[in-house]
Amino acid sequence: MLNRRNLFKAAAVGGAAAVVPWGRLGVTAPPASAAAGAAAAAPAPVVPFAHAMPLPQVLSPVSQTALSDVYEVRMREADAEIVQGLVSRVRTYGGTFPGPTIRAVRGREVVVRQYNDLTVNTAVHLHGAHVLSQHDGLPMDTIAPGGTRTYHYPNEQRAASLWYHDHAHHLEAENVYMGLHGLYLLTDTAEQLLPLPRGAFDVPLVIRDARVEIDGTLRYTRPSDCPHMLVNGKERPYFRVAARKYRLRLYNACANRYIRLRFADGAEFTQIGSDGGLLDTPVTRTEVTMLGGERVDIVVDFARWGTGRSVVLENTGALGTERPEVMRFDIGNRVADRSRIPRRLSRSAVLPAATVERDFEIRTFPAMTINGLSYDPNRVDVTTRLGTTETWTVRNAEAPIGPGLPDFHLWHSFHTHLTFFRVLERNGAPAGIADQGWKDTVTLGPGETVKISMTWGPYTGQYLYHCHQLGHSSGGQMGRIDVTP
Ligand code: C2O
Ligand code: CU
Repeated sequence: MLNRRNLFKAAAVGGAAAVVPWGRLGVTAPPASAAAGAAAAAPAPVVPFAHAMPLPQVLSPVSQTALSDVYEVRMREADAEIVQGLVSRVRTYGGTFPGPTIRAVRGREVVVRQYNDLTVNTAVHLHGAHVLSQHDGLPMDTIAPGGTRTYHYPNEQRAASLWYHDHAHHLEAENVYMGLHGLYLLTDTAEQLLPLPRGAFDVPLVIRDARVEIDGTLRYTRPSDCPHMLVNGKERPYFRVAARKYRLRLYNACANRYIRLRFADGAEFTQIGSDGGLLDTPVTRTEVTMLGGERVDIVVDFARWGTGRSVVLENTGALGTERPEVMRFDIGNRVADRSRIPRRLSRSAVLPAATVERDFEIRTFPAMTINGLSYDPNRVDVTTRLGTTETWTVRNAEAPIGPGLPDFHLWHSFHTHLTFFRVLERNGAPAGIADQGWKDTVTLGPGETVKISMTWGPYTGQYLYHCHQLGHSSGGQMGRIDVTP
């Protein structure tokens, strides 16, 4: 029998696809014709810094009431230029790749009417949001092709960098990869009162990998076969900045890989926020590791490099065969900058002591499971009561493999719907700076264990927890939690 080590050795020499179907790694196997074509196809050459980095366009409401903003989005196929000079057919929210950004304000409801003009089922999930179960985009709660559905987002939570993406069961990995993801930036007055960089100096960077074939086809495949790295939908772009402070909202929107970001010269930057919004106090970082679904909000002062200079943001988590560059910042003139990073960013509520403890073990081999079970929408894995504070010990059951082999599939990214959590411990030690703040997604390297704590609420109903390596969740690394009154 093929064991895991052999499998990855086989993968390293390119033979695994034939021996072990990609479906075994939690991803829908490509149709036979595509698989046959794949052998002949080659990725487009990687040419860094050919594109200027665009900003995702901001969606305008179709109507407004005193208390809500109403949007309409048509999911449809569209053409995008991801790699310069090539046309890629992608799945979109509203025709753009990535989808349009929704700007929300705490206390004002957002209503999004989604039309599915695609040929696949979809379900729209607002990642990090506290929403009623029927608006959570549950895997079986899909919009069929030709169908429509209206989602209500109450925005009764603090400012945070959220995102929306597909969650249709077995399809989410491919749908997200093909383009069904967009930003949802929620702000509030507490955030607005802070002197942080804002407006044109508050910039989202949606980072994800891709494989664009030489003919422009965007092909869904495993991350070690994805040589392109996109920021806001373009292959390794450059971005002109002024010599001043910027807030950069980093998103890992990769379906199946971790990224480890740093400036090429190792320069320090300041982390101000995580998945659940602003940290209590800023922390100095030189590198951040992010798995799919995670957000890290940072402030960078480009004046440190000076006008006329450039600095490259690189991914030290790239494979040896891949280019490390993610994007390049080209620094222009010094402009007035009254922004600063306050010593106190927010004041977190303290979590009550947990009254329930649970253990979870995540596995990829021999099947995509949590506690030995693949997702079954009709099986309730966890039942809890509204308002209960729990401690969850989550273990990544994979062992590390030898250096130099693509190990993306041995990492897990544990995500809870409905509520944020705090990371208490990692591998038995108190959580460090990488695990600060309110989180909804936490990174687990091979063999790692984290202890997290959360209070279940503010709603009752059916929700989920799952690995956010989307090939894994698509393959069943997901559980159902019911919150009862
Ligand atoms: Cu962003 Cu259930 O996921
Ligand atoms: Cu996983």
